[in-house]
Amino acid sequence: MTVMNTRNIVLIGFMGCGKTTVGMALSQLIHYDFLDCDILIEQKCGMTISNIFSEFGESYFRKIETEVMAEVSKLECCVIATGGGVIKNPDNMDLLQKNSSVVYLKATPEQIFKNVKEDHTRPILQTNNKFEKISILMNEREPFYQQYADFSIEVGEKSVTEITDKILEILEIK
Ligand code: S3P
Repeated sequence: MTVMNTRNIVLIGFMGCGKTTVGMALSQLIHYDFLDCDILIEQKCGMTISNIFSEFGESYFRKIETEVMAEVSKLECCVIATGGGVIKNPDNMDLLQKNSSVVYLKATPEQIFKNVKEDHTRPILQTNNKFEKISILMNEREPFYQQYADFSIEVGEKSVTEITDKILEILEIK
């Protein structure tokens, strides 16, 4: 497949919507490098996201997250999976939008819950009522995902291939 420009493709969306899985598959199809911002943050800090949150707090994590956005926004021809909270800081999105097509992978709270219910790596979801937390956060964040996305794709019951096909079709990559 040939891509006619050098813009990155940035995936945004709630935790557990499939950004990493879809991003990896997409990058292979178009021969782009794949970057997962959570992994870059972990590498930069030399510790897991859970430990960053528990030792230094969320605001420190968000500061590092913005530093990583500044770094990845300088790159070209990458598929970039962001953390679900990247939209909380408009600076992150300003940086990313300069050189990227931004794709929102939209999932319902029910789908998200199904994907993350056994997960212990996301500090924000370590509560007694995960579904309620997901619903509240989704309500808060949904307008921002929509606002910053060039387009959105409803994940629904689609397979990874169906989602990557849709992205390629919308971006007119053949
Ligand atoms: C977060 C999402 C996580 C990670 C961190 C905070 C959030 O990324 O960045 O735990 O605030 O939604 P994923 O969306 O990849 O799980």
